[in-house]
Amino acid sequence: MAYETIIVEIEDYVALIRLNRPDALNALNSKLMGELSEALTAADGNDNVRCIIITGSEKAFAAGADIKEMSEKTFVDVFGDDMFAAETEAVTRVRKPIIAAVAGYALGGGCELAMMCDFILCADNAKFGQPEINLGVVAGMGGTQRLTRFVGKSKSMDMHLTGRFMDAAEAERCGLVSRVVPAKELIAEAKKTAAKIAEKSQITVLAVKESVNRAYETTMREGLLFERRVFHSLFSTEDQKEGMAAFLEKRSPQFRDR
Ligand code: CAA
Repeated sequence: MAYETIIVEIEDYVALIRLNRPDALNALNSKLMGELSEALTAADGNDNVRCIIITGSEKAFAAGADIKEMSEKTFVDVFGDDMFAAETEAVTRVRKPIIAAVAGYALGGGCELAMMCDFILCADNAKFGQPEINLGVVAGMGGTQRLTRFVGKSKSMDMHLTGRFMDAAEAERCGLVSRVVPAKELIAEAKKTAAKIAEKSQITVLAVKESVNRAYETTMREGLLFERRVFHSLFSTEDQKEGMAAFLEKRSPQFRDR
C-alpha cells in the first residue's frame, strides 16, 4: 500500500510506521492521521505483524496537529466533525503493542500521539511539550488527561500552562518515557525491543496490553479482579503449558498460540 505522508515497512513480525512530512516537521494533518489509522488497522489485522513502532525523523516525531489546516476552522466545523475523535480512537483500539520511538520534537498532538502508544522510547534529543496554550487552545488529543495520569498534576499543569518543553532526561525522570537512548541508536533499539515482544506468546501479549490499560480505566479493586481472571484464563492456552514446561526442562519455549 502506497501512502503519501507515512512510510510503512514490515520485517520480522515488526511494522515500522514512519511519519513523513519533513517540510512540516511531521505536523499531523488529516491526510496523515487518515493514513496512520489505515496503516494501524491493517497492521493489527496482519498475521505477519506482532508489534508496531511509530516513529518520525531525527528532528521531529511530530510538531503537533497541523496549525495551517486548523487555523481557519470554526467551532461549528470542529465540533460538527468531532475533530480528533476518530483519529485518536483508531490508535487506541489497536490490540497489538505499539512503541513510540521519539526523536526531536513531540509537541501538542505529537506528544499526545506518543502517549497513545503503549510505551515511549526516546532519543537523547527528544523534546516533549503541550504548547497549545500559545495558540489560544487546549490540547485536543488527550494531553490534559494522559499527561496528568503519567506525570502527575503538578508537572502536567506546568507543561500545559506554560507551554514549556521537557527534555529527554526530565521525561525519563518523571516516567513519561520508559528509556532514553542515543539518537543514532533509537530505531535499532526500538526494533530490538519489538523483536523481543514478537518472540513471546502472542495471546499473552494481547492479555498484558489489555490488563495494563485497565489500570487507566477502572478502580484498583476491579483492575485486580480483571488481572486475576485474565491470569486464570491463560491456563486454558497451549502457551501456558509450553512456557512452564520449557522453564522446568531448561529450554527455550516454542510458543504457538497465534
Ligand atoms: N503545524 C503546521 N506546520 C508546522 C507545525 C505545525 N504544528 N510545526 C511546524 N510546522 C512547519 C512550520 O510552519 C515550518 O514550515 P515553513 O517552512 O513552510 O514555514 C516548518 O514546519 C519548520 O518549522 P519551523 O521553521 O518553525 O522550525 P523551527 O526549528 O524553527 O521550530 C518548532 C520548531 C519549535 C517545533 C516550531 O515549528 C513550533 O513551535 N511548531 C508548532 C508547535 C505547536 O504549537 N504544536 C501544537 C499544535 S496544536 C495541537 O497539536 C492541538 C492538539 O492538541 C491536537
